[in-house]
Amino acid sequence: MGNHKKGLLKRYICMAAGFVLSLSLFAGCTKGSNQESETSLILGFSQIGSESAWRIGNTKDIEEQAEKYGINLMFENANQKQENQIAAIRRFIAYKVDVIAFSPIVEDGWDNVLTEAKDAGIPVILVDRDISTEKEGLTTCLIGADFYREGVMAGEYLIRKADALGLDHVNIVEITGTENSTPMRQRQAGFADAIANDSRMNILESIDGDFLKSRGAECMRYLLDEYGDDIDVIYSHNDEMTLGALPEIEKAGYAPGKDIIIISIDGGQEAIDVLKEGKINCVVECTPKLGKEVMETALKLKAGEAVEPLIHPSELVFSDEMDTSKIPERGY
Ligand code: AHR
Repeated sequence: MGNHKKGLLKRYICMAAGFVLSLSLFAGCTKGSNQESETSLILGFSQIGSESAWRIGNTKDIEEQAEKYGINLMFENANQKQENQIAAIRRFIAYKVDVIAFSPIVEDGWDNVLTEAKDAGIPVILVDRDISTEKEGLTTCLIGADFYREGVMAGEYLIRKADALGLDHVNIVEITGTENSTPMRQRQAGFADAIANDSRMNILESIDGDFLKSRGAECMRYLLDEYGDDIDVIYSHNDEMTLGALPEIEKAGYAPGKDIIIISIDGGQEAIDVLKEGKINCVVECTPKLGKEVMETALKLKAGEAVEPLIHPSELVFSDEMDTSKIPERGY
C-alpha cells in the first residue's frame, strides 16, 4: 500500500474510533438517570472554562440537572478561549444535536457559527451571558443573572455604608471581569449609574482582572502602588478576583473590611466565609444554579413549544448590615 493510502486508512480509523468514543460518552451520560422514561434529547453545552468557583458550580449544576431530566449532555469546556467555543458549537452541529446551549465568553463574534446552527435548524439557548448581534433569530432565549441589577445593588450598598460611616469623600477602585463580557459591561454600568448622583463617589480607576484570582492579585498590587492610602473602596466584579486581592491588601499593611471597604459579586462559600470574618463588607449574589431552567427550556424547544425570551433568577445581597451567621451553606 502506498504512503498516501496508508495515511488515509489511518485517518479513517482515528475518525471511527472518535465516533465510537463519542457514542460511548453519550451512553455514559445517560447511565443512572433518575428519570423513569428518558427523552432522546441531546443537548450540546459549551462552557467557558473553569476560571472560578462560580463557573465550577455552574458546570456541576448543568451536569446534575441534565442527569435529573434524562437529557443526554454533550459537554465541552473551552478553557477560556472563544475559538474553542466556536469549534465546539460546530461539532454539535455536525453531530446534529437537538439543542445547543452555551455561555459566550465575550459578546461579539458569534454571527457566523450561530447562522450555521440556525441553517441546520438547531435552536440555541444562551446561558449566563449575552451576545451582541445585528442579526435576528440566532438564539431563542437567555437564561442568566441580571448583571446590571447586581451592579446597582453593589452601588446602593456603598451609598448606605458611606452614610453609616459618615464619609464625605469616597475613592473607589474597580477590578472588572473579562473585557467585552456581559457581566463586566453590565456590572460596571449598574454600579456607575447607582452612584452617579452621589457627589462623594469618585472612581479612581477601573482595571481588567479577567475574573481570575491571579489577575485580582496583580491588579491589587498595581492599584496599591499607584493609589496607596487614597483607596477607600474596592469594587470587584467577582469573588475570585476579590480573594486574590485580599492577601495583597494585608501585605501592604491595610485591614480589608476596616481600612478599605470591600464589595464583591458571586456569593461563593469561600467569599461568604471571609464576609463572616469581616474582611469583605458586601457580597452581591450571582447564582450559578441555572441548570433546571436550561433543561426545561431545552425540552420545550425540542417539543416545538414557545419559551420565555429572558429568564433571570432572583438574587440577594449579603453584607455586614445583617447577621451573617444566618447565611446558609452556598453549595458552590
Ligand atoms: O458570568 C458570570 C461570571 O463569570 C461570574 O461572576 C464569575 O465568577 C464567572 O467567572
